[in-house]
Amino acid sequence: MKNILVIGAAGYIGSHTVRQLAAGGYHPVILDNLSKGHKEAVAGFDFEQGDFTDKACLERVLQKYDFAAVMHFAACTEVDRSVKDPATFYQNNTAGVLTLLTTMLAHNIKRFVFSSSAAIFGEPQADLINENHPTHPINPYGRSKLMVEKMLEDFDLAYGLKSAALRYFNASGSDESGEIGESHSPETHLIARLVQTAAGKQNGFTVFGTDYPTPDGTCIRDFVHVNDLARAHVLALAKLLNESASLRFNLGSGNGHSVAEVVATVQKITGQDFKVTHAPRRAGDPARLVADSTRAKEMLGWQPTYDLTRIIQTAWQWETHRKY
Ligand code: UFG
Repeated sequence: MKNILVIGAAGYIGSHTVRQLAAGGYHPVILDNLSKGHKEAVAGFDFEQGDFTDKACLERVLQKYDFAAVMHFAACTEVDRSVKDPATFYQNNTAGVLTLLTTMLAHNIKRFVFSSSAAIFGEPQADLINENHPTHPINPYGRSKLMVEKMLEDFDLAYGLKSAALRYFNASGSDESGEIGESHSPETHLIARLVQTAAGKQNGFTVFGTDYPTPDGTCIRDFVHVNDLARAHVLALAKLLNESASLRFNLGSGNGHSVAEVVATVQKITGQDFKVTHAPRRAGDPARLVADSTRAKEMLGWQPTYDLTRIIQTAWQWETHRKY
């Protein structure tokens, strides 16, 4: 059984991926500093507590096991906060990964699965964003991720480190077991905030920006279920281990939904008619981000299986029965 180091696995997307790794016959070992993650989310898995940006901690974990690959989920992700506090984002998301990669190489680990983001593209120049779309991120978060992707290209050429960079569009929903789910503090993500509002845990909902160049004036996003993303990781890892080539995939459903449409759908599914107010645009938000995931379909056989309704239903189920 291959050991896979999964950094940040106590978080949202990592915790869903770890379960699918184990189901796929891998042995995931978790490294998480629990600054944002939840120990309950990875109950039963081998767990090391520590910070991946701490070289001594990394050395300790890399000496303990023989790893076939590293998967890296631990990142600061809030676009708005990255505009106000870019130093934290470049330190953790970029400089931290440089430490990680050089330490991996010192241990001769040359397979890396990286959580990248649709935010590397910036304002789209086409309706659907494929892997050849130009990368002009409009916020520090997107830049912090793009810098790592550039670093990975150079590390492949110079050191033979092969990577899969997975550009997530909007991860959402929760596992149907009800055991794990989305839990950020504070919660900033659209669907998670909406179901919290429907459950009476937020005092009304605010739409950020109604003057975007979209049909209803609100931003358009591509929502992809967290378990569909998790499956893409396992498929990409298998390909990375079997073939010696770096991979880049845009992972989304290919369907755009506006913020106003998502608000209405959450109200319909939950049966809760909560108060909605409008506020100015949030800093760093592109008007529209929708994926063309043809490459992932062709090369990995990957296709999302959850539509917006099912995503919201699983988010609502989690919100009303959450464990952490
Ligand atoms: N929004 C609101 N009100 C809220 C929360 C969000 O109107 O209370 C709006 C945002 O302004 C944005 C849209 O809903 O227009 C989606 O916002 P999210 O915060 O849910 O997601 P983002 O698109 O900003 O970012 C997410 C991840 C990023 C990732 C990106 C890729 O947080 O890490 O998706 O599309 F890069």
